[in-house]
Amino acid sequence: MKHTEHIYLTPMPVRIWHWLNAFGIVTLCITGLQIRFPDHANIFGTYKAAISLHNTAGVVVSISYALWLLYYMLVAGTLVKLYIPTIDDITRGVFRQAFFYFFHYFLGRPNPHHATPDSKFNPMQKAAYLMIMLVLLPLVIVSGAALMYIAPMREFILIIGGIKTLVSAHFLIACSFCAFLFVHIYLATLGHTPLAYFKPMWNGWEKVEHGEEEHEGAHKTEHAH
Ligand code: HEM
Repeated sequence: MKHTEHIYLTPMPVRIWHWLNAFGIVTLCITGLQIRFPDHANIFGTYKAAISLHNTAGVVVSISYALWLLYYMLVAGTLVKLYIPTIDDITRGVFRQAFFYFFHYFLGRPNPHHATPDSKFNPMQKAAYLMIMLVLLPLVIVSGAALMYIAPMREFILIIGGIKTLVSAHFLIACSFCAFLFVHIYLATLGHTPLAYFKPMWNGWEKVEHGEEEHEGAHKTEHAH
């Protein structure tokens, strides 16, 4: 018997954070492009307008990041469980998942990972989200804050090698965010329908179809034949 489960996967605070953060990061990338290449990309009128929009988006992303971290650490308490890859994820899981994305997906084989509220991410997602959320986002926030408050952060800027190093680091991390965005959006369309992974990010619920096997963690189950 085949049945369809609806799993409540993404709580509301995470969904609000995600779309606010996505909007903020896209704004930062576009305004950042104008700030870095003012002669080639004049999107927001004046240079000053691009800088103030960039700074505002930076503050919004930083505050929402702090709330995201507090939520996962103190309210949900699932940061480590969801975001830190296990030894098995690193030694076998990432390869199995990469094999799926590069080959098995195109042969119509099933995804080796089944999302549950306690194990939402496959090993590749865990590795990518860990890097983005716990390494690159904090680094881009700190380097951006140092560029916004150069005088008070003078000592820190000198310690890390001066303003040129700081600007280059901020720019390189921003480039990796742009690269992440393209891959992230492409991989997010590889569910059983192109919008299948977008729905839980919008209303919280993921629809999972099962064959013979039983699945735990369901909150609402519909049966079909
Ligand atoms: C327009 C831009 C974006 C779109 C369309 C988008 C789309 C999605 C979708 C469909 C998911 C659910 C599927 C999955 O877990 O992979 C997701 C999850 C996620 N995205 Fe994005 N995303 C965008 C931007 C971003 C950015 C800029 C970041 C980080 C800097 C980000 C970080 C995440 C994280 C950490 C999750 C997992 C959230 C959780 O359930 O805890 N996304 N995104």
